[in-house]
Amino acid sequence: MIAIVSAVFLASVLIHGTIAQSYPPPIWYFPFRVTLANGQGNADPSRTTSFADNVFVDIDLTQPFSLMSWISVSDIGSTFWRAALSIESPDATSALFRIALPPNQMNFNVAWMQSAQNRGGAINTTVVAPGPNVQFHLAMVKDGNAIAFYMNGARTSSISLSSQIFNPANFVASQKQVVLGRTRLDGNTDRSQWNGILRDVYLFDFALDDAEVEEEYQATLLE
Ligand SMILES: *[C@@H]1O[C@H](CO)[C@@H](O)[C@H](O)[C@H]1NC(C)=O
Repeated sequence: MIAIVSAVFLASVLIHGTIAQSYPPPIWYFPFRVTLANGQGNADPSRTTSFADNVFVDIDLTQPFSLMSWISVSDIGSTFWRAALSIESPDATSALFRIALPPNQMNFNVAWMQSAQNRGGAINTTVVAPGPNVQFHLAMVKDGNAIAFYMNGARTSSISLSSQIFNPANFVASQKQVVLGRTRLDGNTDRSQWNGILRDVYLFDFALDDAEVEEEYQATLLE
């Protein structure tokens, strides 16, 4: 266990360059870039271009967490929902938590489950994706029921969830995954495919403060 933690920490330091943070490393990260050029909604499952890690994340979604990614969206005028980031479990019919762009909109929508079968809600945020084809760093920091948003390292706005995020208790059995570029909806695992770029996705199991979000933004800026 200690060896695993050390390896993760070392990898984190290497990925971020030579600067070691004063805060704990991410519990999950995707230090790559994927270009998702499908944008076909759920029309053709054989054309899936998304990423679901088979390494499950041991995170309690009722507790504070931080999720961030570099993002680019290639199409303003899509007629489909486009999901950038999801945290999913087969125990819930839809993503436990996900962030997506609605059809023909560039402001992010956040949705969550409040139980295995019931959606907690969906909120159209005031967080607007620049673009198309503009890369930006989006960070979300959840603390209690509040989620603060950061664009390129700077805090922009916040929302308040009307219920806590459903958290299947046994993470091994519930197989919580971070999923990039599509989302689970009403039992269908392959909805709302992203059209654009996702890179350097990080999940922390605590709430980063403003300076720490800025540090993450700077650390992943030039690649
Ligand atoms: C968010 O916007 C989408 C697209 O316009 C709309 O379908 C949906 O009802 C909105 N959701 C909320 C909670 O207002």
